[in-house]
Amino acid sequence: MCGIIGYSGHRPAVPVVIEGLHHLEYRGYDSAGVASVQCSDFEIVRAKGKLSALEDELSRRPPSHATTGMGHTRWATHGEPAVRNAHPHESNDGTLAIVHNGIIENYLEIKADLEAKGYVFSSETDTEVLVNLVQECRRSEPDLLKAFAKALRLAKGAYAVCLMSREKPGEFLAARMSAPLIMGIGTGEFFVASDIPAFLPYTRQVVFLEDGELARVDCQGYQIYAIKDLSPVSHEVMTIEWDMQSAQKGGYRHFMLKEIFEQPRVVADGLAGRVARGSGAVHLPELDALPVPERLHVVACGTSYHAGLWGRCLIEQWAGIPVQVEIASEFRYREKLLLGPRDMVLVISQSGETADTLAALRIAKEQGVPLLGLCNVVGSSIAREADSVVFTQAGPEISVASTKAMCSQMLMLALMALAWSARKGLTDEAFRAGIVDGLLDLPKKLEEALPGMHARARELSRKYSGAKNFFYLGRGHCFPLALEGALKLKELSYIHAEGYASGEMKHGPIALIDRSFPTFAIALNDDLLPKVKSNMVEIQARQGRVIALANEGCDLGADDVWIVPDAGKPLSAFFVLPALQLFSYETSDYLGKDVDQPRNLAKSVTVE
Ligand code: G6P
Repeated sequence: MCGIIGYSGHRPAVPVVIEGLHHLEYRGYDSAGVASVQCSDFEIVRAKGKLSALEDELSRRPPSHATTGMGHTRWATHGEPAVRNAHPHESNDGTLAIVHNGIIENYLEIKADLEAKGYVFSSETDTEVLVNLVQECRRSEPDLLKAFAKALRLAKGAYAVCLMSREKPGEFLAARMSAPLIMGIGTGEFFVASDIPAFLPYTRQVVFLEDGELARVDCQGYQIYAIKDLSPVSHEVMTIEWDMQSAQKGGYRHFMLKEIFEQPRVVADGLAGRVARGSGAVHLPELDALPVPERLHVVACGTSYHAGLWGRCLIEQWAGIPVQVEIASEFRYREKLLLGPRDMVLVISQSGETADTLAALRIAKEQGVPLLGLCNVVGSSIAREADSVVFTQAGPEISVASTKAMCSQMLMLALMALAWSARKGLTDEAFRAGIVDGLLDLPKKLEEALPGMHARARELSRKYSGAKNFFYLGRGHCFPLALEGALKLKELSYIHAEGYASGEMKHGPIALIDRSFPTFAIALNDDLLPKVKSNMVEIQARQGRVIALANEGCDLGADDVWIVPDAGKPLSAFFVLPALQLFSYETSDYLGKDVDQPRNLAKSVTVE
């Protein structure tokens, strides 16, 4: 969480930094700040709340002419959202300023030591402790690079940091440990940022810094060093293929709506080059690099976890591989992790930077099992640390609530299930070709269905937005979709929502049902429909209102029926998913909530 950016070049730095922060605001929006050096003094401007508050503050001041600067957009961890806790933070002697994404875990111990030496703190942050630790390290090590490296060696935890000093106003230092930090290499200008869109208007040439590395940057160039001993490090410069347009709203009211409507394209792109109509073959060389697992452990968080639960149904059914799906924050602290020699761990992460998922990957790595990644962001930590990676190719997802990423993850999980199934000879060519054709039909069908689904979502959101609670029910492969539907509604509209396995309602949750507590039932035309129908009747018998997400021709007797196209089991899920997303989107927008940046959330959770 939190986004940082540093710039050194030939342009006025503050507007470049602010523009970059706009592209990082999805990472947190509790406060924002910028720093540059003006007439040998730091000019630090900070404001509570969204970036617009900082821009207002800056508009009341004379423009800065400095060509080096840095900025921060915050998702609060230590200390409430307030100006005093906003970054950049200065050292006590006013010579240093810092911006930081991450958590310094031993900051209280360091703070106590520094306080004993007379340091005072004006914020509750771990970051202010770090900048003062650098000041303290300079007492024995006046060279800033060396002092910074020394301070970083003393700090435990996760960080992506940018440090500026008053004495060298045209330079900044940047370092990374378990939090993303990418350098942008321009012509006579250089950047570091938590994510590529922050500098993409200026350059597509990037260097991915690794954990434990530190860079010195000015407008002439950069040098990278290992924090442990300051030995020089060199990295290949890579070129980013996607452009800025894919990170813009493109005429939609919100990024979320744009990203929901991108799903037909996401499916088409994901299938391109991997399958062909009429053939059961799946081209996934990323899987061929690893043995077919005897047991698969899927580890993920949030929406990616729900995608994993959905994928389990297909991998077990088609490929005959037992699958466990676990939340990364639980997996990483298992008392006894029993991974067998022929197991595989599959980590799913849109960002490839989620701290718990990354930690889970590292724990699994220690046990030597093959590690497969399913990621959207090329060059992300998880993508780089897994043994092999399947990329979802969904393009940048900006809205904090994940939508198209889940669609792309589901698609790739279906392809993996088919590929493993073929390698094990468990399904015949005709069966697989039928699924492949069904997948290839999806983009067009989705494209046609989305506008009507959007209109229906709008109608239903108006009718049900007064509810304070919601159940989302599903069975089989629709259960993970129910979980995702509930997650989307609560994170976007702040309406309490629970996803449940339909058959579990009678074991307690049904006690909550009354007229004011509606239920979204996913009741598709498949073998489990009679069971789902019974569960719906049980709810209606308790005066509960039911919205049924169903296929044409099912007689359901629900209060509201929402017909979605029938692509057969399990592919109908690709229609259920956007329906649930659109309902939450419309409810949130109707209630006047901040759709793209819901309160208290962040897109990339790089803290535990
Ligand atoms: C955050 C985001 C969610 C996302 C989850 C996992 O909570 O708000 O939308 O599903 O992190 O993120 P990942 O990038 O690992 O898929």
